[in-house]
Amino acid sequence: MDKRTNIDQLIEQFKSLPGGLMPLLHAVKHDVGYIPDDSVEQIAKGFNLSRAEVHGVISFYHDFNTSPTGQHCVQICRAEACQSMGSRQIEAHAKKSLGIEYGETTKDGKVTLQPVYCLGNCACSPSIRIDDDIHARVSAASFDQLMAELRSPATTHAGGKK
Ligand code: FES
Repeated sequence: MDKRTNIDQLIEQFKSLPGGLMPLLHAVKHDVGYIPDDSVEQIAKGFNLSRAEVHGVISFYHDFNTSPTGQHCVQICRAEACQSMGSRQIEAHAKKSLGIEYGETTKDGKVTLQPVYCLGNCACSPSIRIDDDIHARVSAASFDQLMAELRSPATTHAGGKK
């Protein structure tokens, strides 16, 4: 089944649900891996919305990426508690060491870097999330170690530490 057919089927499934746009976007992300830019018109038509309205929702929620992501998503918390504990330095270090900006993917296709605004782990700031795992009290050194584990050919998952 191609991407477009799949999205068409999901639109059919969710369009009559009250507030169906959010579950639809989550379902597209789950099935396709991202919300393709060229599906916005299709989604807008299905939900009887304007393209701008659909774009607005996609860009408001940082979880919805509009291009394919790498094998792993690394999110750095930019909210207040983490910032007060040094997340900006982690962010600068991550961008420099990975050689990418937010929203970009490393050349080996392993890591996509994203900002996030509170992971609910404020007491153990600064926090980052790698895929589904939250890592607490991250330093530049521990970030490097996590990235080395993540990018090692033998490792498929870095594992979480709370
Ligand atoms: S502010 Fe970073 S986890 Fe809450």
